[in-house]
Order: sequence, then C-alpha cells, then structure tokens
Amino acid sequence: MKVTVVGAGNVGATVAECVARKDMVDEVVLIDIVEGLPQGKALDMQESAPIHLFDTRVVGTNNYADTAGSDVCVITAGLPRKPGMSRDDLLAKNAAIVKSVTEQFAAGSPNAIIIVVSNPLDVMTYVAYMTSGFPSKRVMGMAGVLDTARYRAFLSMELGASVKDIQALLMGGHGDTMVPLPRYTTIGGIQVTELIDEDRLSAIVDRTKTGGGEIVKLMGTSAWYAPGAAAAEMVEAIVKDSGRVVPAAAWLTGEYGLENLFIGVPVRLGKEGITEIIQVDLNKDESKLMDESAEHVRANLEALKRLQSA
Ligand code: NAI
Ligand code: 2OP
Repeated sequence: MKVTVVGAGNVGATVAECVARKDMVDEVVLIDIVEGLPQGKALDMQESAPIHLFDTRVVGTNNYADTAGSDVCVITAGLPRKPGMSRDDLLAKNAAIVKSVTEQFAAGSPNAIIIVVSNPLDVMTYVAYMTSGFPSKRVMGMAGVLDTARYRAFLSMELGASVKDIQALLMGGHGDTMVPLPRYTTIGGIQVTELIDEDRLSAIVDRTKTGGGEIVKLMGTSAWYAPGAAAAEMVEAIVKDSGRVVPAAAWLTGEYGLENLFIGVPVRLGKEGITEIIQVDLNKDESKLMDESAEHVRANLEALKRLQSA
C-alpha cells in the first residue's frame, strides 16, 4: 500500500508522520513545491523509525512520478489561515493550488482515493472531485473527524470523562456553521444532555464551532496536530477496510435533502472509499442548522464559480 501526502507543511508532515507511525502501509510519499522541504522532513521521519518501530518507508520528493500508483492521497497543499482571516478568504489561491496538484497526482494514480484537507474544505473537495474525474465515493474531505475530536476533547475536559467513552456526531460544512449534534453525543452510552447542563453544553458547542479560530489566535497560523491525526485516522479506515463510521465531506445526491455539493455527513469508510452515506434522523432545529450550513457552502461554491468564469 502506498499513501501520498501533498504539501509538506505543518498538516502534511503531521499526516505523513501519523500514517508512518501506524506501521500499516509500505510507503508514504511526501511531496511539496518547495525543494528540499519534503526530502528533509521525510528523512527526519525515516530516522525516527528505529525509535517508533515502524517499517513504512518515508520518501520526500518534488516529482509526481514518485507518487504514481498510490492507493490513497491526502491533499494539504495550500495556504493556512492567519489571524483575522476566515477559511473562506483562502478560496481563490487554494483552488488554483488544489486543481494543479490534483491534476498532477491523478494522472499517475487513477485508482486512488483522495482525502482533501486544504481550506475552505468543502469547496476544495469539490475542486479535487471535478479535476480528478474520480467517482464521488473516491473523493472526500477531512473536517468532521477533527471537529468531532475537538468537541469530544472539550467534553472530556468539562466532565473529567475519558475520551475513550465519548462518542459524538457533528455534521455540516467546515466553518462556524458546522452542526454539532448533542442528541447523538454519548458518554459511556449515556446521552450527554443527562450529564451536563444546557448552558455548559451550549458553550462547548460554540467553542467547537470556533475551535479552529481559537488556535489561529493563539499561534498566528492554524492547527496541525489534531488535523494531521484526523486525516491519518481516515487513511487507516480506508487501508484497513475497517468499515468505520466517521463524519466526512461527501458528495450528496439528495441525502438530507441536499444535492450537488460536498458537506460533512456520517459515512462508512472502506477500501473503495465511501461505501455508504448514513442518513440519521434530524429534528426540525437540527435540519434548519444543516440547511444553513449548506447555504454557506453553496455561497462559497458560487464564489468559486464566479472566480473561475472571471
Ligand atoms: P503550511 O503553510 O504549513 O503548509 C502548506 C504546504 O503546502 C507548504 O509546505 C507549501 O509549500 C505547500 N504548497 C503550496 N503550494 C503547493 C503546490 N502547488 N504543490 C505542492 N505543495 C504546495 O499550511 P498547513 O498549516 O499545513 O495547512 C495546509 C492547509 O490545510 C491550509 O489550507 C489549511 O487551512 C488547511 N487546514 C485544514 C484543516 C481541516 O480540518 N480541513 C485543518 C487544518 C488546516
Ligand atoms: C482548523 O479547523 C483552520 O480548518 C482549520 O483548524
């Protein structure tokens, strides 16, 4: 098995390291436009193998020929947010980057599964889908695993509960309109609403929605440890054909009353990519939030189309 990570910056290098440390594939290829950067980071990771005890080969390159025959590709190339920027501010520049890297990658790996990480996530996933021409089940976006992890981490901090006992679902676009779902959140099988009062839960939901911005404010750039681990978890579900259910940006064709856009929904992952889009019942309030989030993603898609036709 061969996994390519495009972009050897903060998130890309973390994805590559997390995948290598899981010791589950033969090769991880890290590719970037900057000469020396992927080679240096890959060599550094390879030199950690005798300590972490993995046999995965880590290769750094600037040449797409080295990515040929990949089974999975994680696209992290692009600009990250700076303070005061929304994910949407990255639209034009990152669309051009994602289009170019997808073209170059897909030519040599026509059967791969693509996981997009670059922001604005839902629209960049659309760009990779349109550019690659791959079937929709083989193109998806990573955001829900990260956003749900943030939500679960905040719940664990609040309740002193083990993260191992916290299960949660979060849907919608990767932005401040994302939709955490307390009705589908449990601690050791107990619905979270029985363990925490409404105000505290609502504060945690709000903190989750702005969790990316909280880190940008602290560091001057966006997060990478949790995003990298989240993308690697999706790679693992695919290469191990585990059937895990996670939230991911998927191409909808009527599910949840939405179509022709990528947005976060629960999916089952396996070696073919998205093997199922799971439709859970949403009540009136939840459906309204999901529709508002979809409107936000659509507005970004329209902005992209305007840019492309200008
Ligand atoms: P970074 O600046 O550390 O790394 C980006 C890398 O992309 C750089 O090494 C750069 O040289 C490379 N790059 C730029 N153009 C390229 C091209 N044409 N071909 C190959 N490589 C190219 O940024 P970071 O922090 O790694 O973030 C990457 C992207 O991921 C950003 O768009 C960020 O907003 C997004 N992100 C998304 C998350 C999500 O949940 N979906 C979470 C965190 C970040
Ligand atoms: C995050 O949520 C900025 O999308 C990035 O950390």
